Amino acid sequence: MNICCIGAGYVGGTTMAIIAQRCPRVQTTIVDMNAARIAAWNSDALPVYEPGLEEIIREVRGRNLIFSTDIAGAIKRADLIFVCVNTPTKTYGLGAGRAADLRYIESVARTIAEHAGSPKIIVEKSTIPVKTAESISAILAANTRGIRFQVLSNPEFLAEGTAIGDLQNPDRVLIGGERTPEGEAAVKTLAEIYASWVPRERIITTSLWSSELSKLVANAFLAQRISSINAISAVCEATGADIDEVAHVIGRDSRIGPKFLKASIGFGGSCFQKDILNLVYLCDHFGLSEVAAYWEHVVRMNDHQKKRFSTRIVKALFNTVAEKKIAILGFAFKKNTNDVRESPAIAVCRDLLAEHARLSVYDPKVTPEDIRRELADAADSRLTIARTAYEACEGAHAIALLTEWDEFKALDFARIFASMPKPAFVFDGRNILDLPKLRTLGFQASGIGR
Ligand code: UDX
Ligand code: UDX
Repeated sequence: MNICCIGAGYVGGTTMAIIAQRCPRVQTTIVDMNAARIAAWNSDALPVYEPGLEEIIREVRGRNLIFSTDIAGAIKRADLIFVCVNTPTKTYGLGAGRAADLRYIESVARTIAEHAGSPKIIVEKSTIPVKTAESISAILAANTRGIRFQVLSNPEFLAEGTAIGDLQNPDRVLIGGERTPEGEAAVKTLAEIYASWVPRERIITTSLWSSELSKLVANAFLAQRISSINAISAVCEATGADIDEVAHVIGRDSRIGPKFLKASIGFGGSCFQKDILNLVYLCDHFGLSEVAAYWEHVVRMNDHQKKRFSTRIVKALFNTVAEKKIAILGFAFKKNTNDVRESPAIAVCRDLLAEHARLSVYDPKVTPEDIRRELADAADSRLTIARTAYEACEGAHAIALLTEWDEFKALDFARIFASMPKPAFVFDGRNILDLPKLRTLGFQASGIGR
C-alpha cells in the first residue's frame, strides 16, 4: 500500500508520522507546494512543534515516510491520497468572514485528476463544509478519462499539543463514505489501516455528509462549552464567586463532565472559530437563521471575553497603560504548540498596543517572526520580543500570562516582583493574581510575600 498526503502542516505531518510508525509496511509520502516547509521537515528543525513528534519522525523518516515536493509523482504512485491542506475562512466575496475558502481543496482535486493514472481513494481530512466531497467527486469525474475515484471523509480530531497521544489512542476514528459497494470497499480499506492500532469498536463509519457535519458539530460543541464557562466567569467576577469552584462543581455532574470547562481569555486555534462560522454559514444558506444566530453567539462571546480581558488590564492599571511596560508571557494559542493561529494573545496585544502600552513578548516556541507577523498592523517601536521570560518581565508594570506553558510555573516570581514598579500586577486571563493565588495555582512563588 502506498499513501500520499497533500499538505505538510500540523495535521498532515503528525497523522502520517503515526501511520508510518504503526504500519511499517505502508509506504507514505507527504508532499506540499511549499518547498521551504518540506525542507524543514527534512531537517533537524521541524516546522511543527508537537511533544513526541520529533522522535517519531526520526524513526520513520527515510524508512517508510518521505517528505517531497514532487506532488505529481506521489499522486501517481499512491493508492490512497489524504488531503490535508488548509481551508481558511474566506476574506472576500460571497460569504466573506464566514464561509470556508475552498480554493486549495479544488486545486488539489484538479491536480489529482491531472496526474492520477489509476484508481485512487481520496480521503478528505481537512475540515470543510458539508457536501465538499461531492464537489471533489464532480471535479474528478469531469477530468479523469474514465479512472474511478472514491472520496471519503475522515475528519481529524487531534488537538495540538496532545496530537501524538490523540492519534495513538483516539476516542474514535470517523470514516464517511458513499453507501455504494465501491464506497463501502473504500471505507473498509481505510478502516484496515487504522485497525492496525485502533480497536475496531472505536472506528465509526457513516455517510459522507454525516461525517463532514459531525466534525463541524464536534468543534462547535467544544467551543460552546468554553464560551459558556467564559460567560459565567464574567458573572463570577461581578459577584465574587470563584469560576474554578463553579466549574469544578458543575463538571462533577457526570452528565456534564469535567473537560473543556476551564475559563480562559478565550479559545484560539485554527479550527474552532472557523468551523463554527462554517456551521453558521451553512445554517443561513438553508434559511435556518435562528440556528445560525445561536451558534454565531459562541464566537461573539469569545470575542467579548478577549476584549474584557484587555479592558481589565487597562482598568487595573489606573485606566492608562500608555508607555507602561507590559510583559506578555505566551503567545501560542495554547501550551505545547508553536501555532499562533487565532491565538487570543493576538487580540489582547493589539488592544494594548492601541492603548500605547510597551509590550515585551516571550513565548518558548513561537518564533519572533510569527509574533511580528500576527501583530503587523499594530507593530511599532513599542513591541519587543524577549529571549527569556525574565527579560520580558524585568521592570514591567504588569505581567499577562496568556499561554499556560509549564515553564512559567517554575519562574522565580520573587525575583520578578522585586524588579517591578509597585503596585505590580499579574493577570492569567481569569484573575488578577496576588501572591497567595499564584501559589495555589502551582506557581513557584514561595519566596514571594516575605
Ligand atoms: C489545516 C486546517 O487548518 C485544518 O482546519 C484542516 O482540518 C486541515 O488543514 P493544518 O495542517 O494545521 O490544518 O494546516 P497548515 O499547517 O496550514 O498546513 C496545510 C499545508 O497545506 C501547508 O503546508 C500548505 O503549504 C499546504 N498546501 C496548501 C498545499 O500543499 N497545497 C495547496 O494547494 C494548499
Ligand atoms: C481542537 C479540537 O479539540 C480538536 O478535536 C480538533 O480536531 C481541532 O480543534 P485544538 O484547537 O488543537 O483542537 O486545541 P484545543 O485543545 O481544543 O483548544 C482550543 C482552544 O480552547 C485553546 O485556545 C484552549 O486554550 C482553549 N480552551 C480549551 C479553553 O479556553 N478552555 C478549556 O477548557 C479548553
